Amino acid sequence: MRTETANPVRLSDYRPSAYAIDTVDLHVALDEADTLVTATLALRRRDGTPSGAPLRLDGDELVLVQLALDGVPLPGDAYATDPDGLVLHAPPEDPFRLTIVTRLDPAANTKLMGLYRSSGTWCTQCEAEGFRRITYFLDRPDVLAVYTVRMEAPKALAPVLLSNGNRVEAGDLPDGRHYAVWHDPWPKPSYLFALVAGDLAARIDGFTTASGRPVELGIYVEHGNETRIDYAMDALKRSMRWDEEVFGREYDLDVFNIVAVSDFNMGAMENKGLNVFNDKYVLADPDVATDTDYAGIEAVIAHEYFHNWTGNRITCRDWFQLCLKEGLTVFRDQEFTSDMRSRPVKRIADVRTLRSHQFPEDGGPLAHPVRPEVYKEINNFYTATVYEKGAEVIRMLKTLVGDDAFRAGMDLYFDRHDGDAATMEDFVACFAEASGRDLSAFMHWYSQAGTPTVEIAEAYDPSARTYRLTFTQTVPPTPGQPVKQPAVIPVRFGLVGSNGADMTYASVSGAEVRDDVIALTETRHEVVFTGVSERPVPSLFRGFSAPVKPQIALTPSDLTFLMRHDGDPFNRWQAASTLAMTMLVAGSEAARSGVTPRIDPAYLDALDETIADGTLDPAFRALMLAVPGENDVAREIGENVDPDAIATAHRTLRAAIGARLETTLAHIVSEASEAGDVAYTPDAAGAGRRSLVNAALDLLAATGRMEVLEAVERRFDLATNMTDRVAALSMLVHRNAPGAEAALGRFHDRFGSVPLVVDKWLAVQATAPDPSTLDRVRGLTRHPSFSFRNPNRTRSLIGSFANLNPTQFARPDGAGFDFVADVVLLLDGTNPQVAARIVTSFRSWRSYEARRRAKAEAALKRIAGKPTLSRDVSDIVERALA
Ligand code: TRP
Ligand code: ZN
Repeated sequence: MRTETANPVRLSDYRPSAYAIDTVDLHVALDEADTLVTATLALRRRDGTPSGAPLRLDGDELVLVQLALDGVPLPGDAYATDPDGLVLHAPPEDPFRLTIVTRLDPAANTKLMGLYRSSGTWCTQCEAEGFRRITYFLDRPDVLAVYTVRMEAPKALAPVLLSNGNRVEAGDLPDGRHYAVWHDPWPKPSYLFALVAGDLAARIDGFTTASGRPVELGIYVEHGNETRIDYAMDALKRSMRWDEEVFGREYDLDVFNIVAVSDFNMGAMENKGLNVFNDKYVLADPDVATDTDYAGIEAVIAHEYFHNWTGNRITCRDWFQLCLKEGLTVFRDQEFTSDMRSRPVKRIADVRTLRSHQFPEDGGPLAHPVRPEVYKEINNFYTATVYEKGAEVIRMLKTLVGDDAFRAGMDLYFDRHDGDAATMEDFVACFAEASGRDLSAFMHWYSQAGTPTVEIAEAYDPSARTYRLTFTQTVPPTPGQPVKQPAVIPVRFGLVGSNGADMTYASVSGAEVRDDVIALTETRHEVVFTGVSERPVPSLFRGFSAPVKPQIALTPSDLTFLMRHDGDPFNRWQAASTLAMTMLVAGSEAARSGVTPRIDPAYLDALDETIADGTLDPAFRALMLAVPGENDVAREIGENVDPDAIATAHRTLRAAIGARLETTLAHIVSEASEAGDVAYTPDAAGAGRRSLVNAALDLLAATGRMEVLEAVERRFDLATNMTDRVAALSMLVHRNAPGAEAALGRFHDRFGSVPLVVDKWLAVQATAPDPSTLDRVRGLTRHPSFSFRNPNRTRSLIGSFANLNPTQFARPDGAGFDFVADVVLLLDGTNPQVAARIVTSFRSWRSYEARRRAKAEAALKRIAGKPTLSRDVSDIVERALA
């Protein structure tokens, strides 16, 4: 019986369900002790289903109380239950109603999937397969139904009762209970169902859509947080307006509610008309939230809101198509942030995230295509590849077809597929039609894993005045995909002349070139430009026009030239990063053999000039100061990695920058007040100023001079906002400043009662590059402010240690790996989804040098050896070890 839900699940096995569900009536009786759910489903045989075909419904950890068909209780032999669901052996031929009563224990639900309690609030999380933990159902995204939800609860415990759609009825009941009825007119898949019941504070506001529809907006939070809602509300209104202006998409219900809960497995969830958020992405005031937090709130509020069209009105046919909603919605939220803030700064930040999260995934044992073809546990496919690389693929599509055809393709998609559960083929077909281009080869981006490498050779012929660029691409083998087809790669480019301006040319051949984009379609292209008056410096992949690894042997002087003159800000930054990376890689080799690495003075000169240029955006200058991180260097080195050697190289380079740029950096710091910005505003301009000052201070501190640390300590005490305060705290702790311990104590005294600030306190300690850190982290797991039951606390302490502390996680004695493995085994019993996330920090274990590799492998094998391992964790460790 269990075999009917085959595992692994394969895309090629997709079949529509035998039955459809047209309406769902849910009665949810909430109580402290337990909860009764009565679901009445209107079912109908789909065309092509033989009459009498058995009906299989999904279920997970459910207690069945009663099952009735058209109002008549079913005898026990009419159906069978098993751990994965329920089968009705012989359903009637004609449409019928199935009534299912299940009993739930939300307080005991530590997986935070299905119906659970968070700080006394009842809430749900159904994506991807959580609805089956509430009732038996066809819990798959291609079964769309209209939901009516009647919920009742003790009024004192839950004065607020929310679900999807519009509230149609409410009232009091005997015994201090009350009820509300919500109706959602839009057919939706079960993963978009939500309900919330609790004693919550709210801010209610309004929005009028472009066509004049008034919408009530509500943001609900735990009492005590009501002063931290304003920024999220403003971000929501800006998102709604932007989607109308840029994509022509209006909101489609009378209310839009957001609830912030403190126990949540991911960032937020786009349930129709009732988004549920991790409170980290809602709550903010300058005293507790950093600029990064504000930017995160703005982006996640937008992301979830944008799902209303890309995800909800048009949903996914099956979970293999997850990128249909996620890649596209990430692309949309990136564009929103670019319009709200600085486009180049946002682009650089996104590429840094892609390289630090997605590239290691794509280059390791967990590599999978943007649209996977097989999975064991769908929760493990909410990945950087599906989300971030998925967004890059949309961006390339836009680059290839051009802005106008892209908008026309989007319009066609919304028009043609509204109300559908669609596939990637459906989506891409709209752009093929709108642009008149054949996009079949472009689909390889969805089916092939691995980051392509593009090697570029250049040759200038002064007598013929021709310039030749030879591109050779390789898509590397990945698990299950040894041989690859060439990818379609858009190369946005400029040929930079000696005066710093882009040069013109007479003609170009060898590839399709439109405007400033070369489209590579074959393994090798020789692109020849004629009428080129001097040897240009090539500026390729401007704006990071494709998620590939370009390899071109530009000289250091070409790169410092691009740092100073490239018309594309992304490539100015890229040139600096490339130079720094070369020095970091050489530096870690040098550190291993005990040699002092050489740091290119021309790089430091060009960097100094850029940083001193007051006409440049401070946020951009701050990014220029950020050299590639230690994990980036490890990835570049690729094998036999020694994190300690990389850390030494990193420290050395940063100290050299701090010393050479001292005058410029000190000037930046001295121009800012010690107390930070007096009147804090969370906008991009203010955030950029603060990020530059803090980056400057950190580089000055990297020189190891005591007076800098004293200044940092003063800034810590005088700070009037959390951005400057936590930046200073982190400098003190990470440099083992004499005042570090006392500062940590003062910080906790003041903010220990604000959980989201405790997270920062935990993360600062977990990321200290010091041999004592592991013991400290162990100790913090027993601190009263910490709990393994809360995903945010767990990620801040354990996730930060495993992902952002390369030398201490990968201690040569293996104790860091062992500790994280212990945590994974512990969490596996309570919250497997979070445990599986944490275990992915082992994903690059094979690239360590032999000793660490053996220790990491032993830790992974120890996890794999646990007899009752969850499917979430076993899926990751099995693939990691394969
Ligand atoms: N769809 C959510 C998003 O906006 C992701 C998500 C939230 C999720 N909670 C989840 C996915 C729980 C899996 C499990 O990206
Ligand atoms: Zn999403």
